[in-house]
Amino acid sequence: MSNPSLLILAGDGIGPEVMVEVRKIIDWFDAKRDLKIDVTEDLVGGAAYDKHGTPLHDDTMAKAQEVDAVLLGAVGGPAYDDLDFSIKPERGLLRLRKEMDLFANLRPAQCFDALADFSSLKKELVAGLDIMIVRELTSGSYFGEPRGIFKENGERVGINTQRYTESEIDRVARSAFELARKRDNRLCSVEKANVMESGILWREVVTKIGAEDYPDVELSHMYADNCAMQLVRNPKQFDTIVTDNLFGDILSDCAAMLTGSLGMLPSASLGVPMENGKPKAMYEPVHGSAPDIAGQGKANPCATILSFAMALRYSYDQGAEADRLEAAVEKVLADGVRTADLMQAGAAKPASTSEMGNAVIKALDESL
Ligand code: IPM
Ligand code: MG
Repeated sequence: MSNPSLLILAGDGIGPEVMVEVRKIIDWFDAKRDLKIDVTEDLVGGAAYDKHGTPLHDDTMAKAQEVDAVLLGAVGGPAYDDLDFSIKPERGLLRLRKEMDLFANLRPAQCFDALADFSSLKKELVAGLDIMIVRELTSGSYFGEPRGIFKENGERVGINTQRYTESEIDRVARSAFELARKRDNRLCSVEKANVMESGILWREVVTKIGAEDYPDVELSHMYADNCAMQLVRNPKQFDTIVTDNLFGDILSDCAAMLTGSLGMLPSASLGVPMENGKPKAMYEPVHGSAPDIAGQGKANPCATILSFAMALRYSYDQGAEADRLEAAVEKVLADGVRTADLMQAGAAKPASTSEMGNAVIKALDESL
């Protein structure tokens, strides 16, 4: 049997330097756990534009369709701000999501005990926080037609369309119900059914699936604006949240920051199962390319390392090894190792990107 495969697209900004640390982790699992993964690397975002004039080359897209999983770093940077919209680095990422049909985006917001003090909320509000946001990723206002900037009555008008079919709502809702079952069995569905028809349909479809196929899961509904408020007021009321593409984008940033740092949070984007029963999948940190600190060895590699842990769990059937890696990251934090994003300015000297990576490797060694 051939080894499982991974395509690494490190991308821009801090992407490449955090990916160096993930390569160390992959090598560790090969050497110490006999877990062999065939890794290939390619370009995405600004890096791909620099070489090919496009943020995602067709050959890279084809490779992404073939592998068991893609691990992406980050895309974008000020050098590309003036590019035409159609070739901006972000378009590479959106093309991957769309063409791989990665409709279910899992964004956990977990507060590590060692970091509870670091949240902008009071410690007691966030200690032990464990939310899973399931964001629809291939439809809604990100992709709906018509879209564009048009001329109307002598002035320009910018148009995007919020559009959801029943089947698009159905499949992401089912993913969320399944996940809720593996967690605390509570699902909160978020839309704005008070002002949007797409929200009315969303609520109807989710309610029907819940009643028919997941009566054991406690289902609630919330308007998106209220959800934003509740996330900041009392985040621990949530277990699993399912929502559309745009609300999910916003609410997941909000939830992420509750945990103290964007630098800690991974994500998984899952599509329809392939022949081998595994979903098409892409894993990426929630943070962006952070051009202000790129190339300085300051970036926190944990979000990308934890994204690889999600790949171990969802794409490679290695739940126990995923647990091992997550525990290693948690141990490192508990031991007080901190990259700059996890400390107050002017505190003790922060760990560099590679020191953080090495500390995780050491914790992995100790786990044996
Ligand atoms: C995210 C990002 C992307 C999005 C950008 C980079 C296109 O904000 O993954 O949350 O808006 O989906
Ligand atoms: Mg976002």
